[in-house]
Amino acid sequence: MEIKQHPILEKTLQDDIYFYFNDKKMKAKKGQTVAGALMANGILEFGRSRKLNQARGLYCGVGRCMSCYVTINNQYHIISCTTLLEEGMKVYSNNSDPKVGRDVIEN
Ligand code: FES
Repeated sequence: MEIKQHPILEKTLQDDIYFYFNDKKMKAKKGQTVAGALMANGILEFGRSRKLNQARGLYCGVGRCMSCYVTINNQYHIISCTTLLEEGMKVYSNNSDPKVGRDVIEN
C-alpha cells in the first residue's frame, strides 16, 4: 500500500529511484525508508528469525524492535524502518547470521 495523495508527502515523494532486493530491481520514491519501499513493492517478509525460522518484517516501524533487519550494501543487520533508501542500494534478506566471528578467526 502506498499513499498517493497527501498534503505533505505529495511534495516529497515524487521522484522515482531504483534499488535491488535480493538482486531484483525495484522502483521506489526518493525519501522512502527501505522498509517502506519494500512494502510498496509487495515485500512483507524481510528475512527469517534464526532460532525458529519465522518470517520477519515490519513490526514497530520506529527502530525499536529489530524485526526489520536487512543487509544493505554488504552491511549486516541494518534497521530498514529507519534507514532512508538511496539510489542503487543493494538490499538483501536477513536470513542468517553473518560470518563475522568466523571471518575474524580465519584472518
Ligand atoms: S520494525 Fe521495529 S525496528 Fe524496524
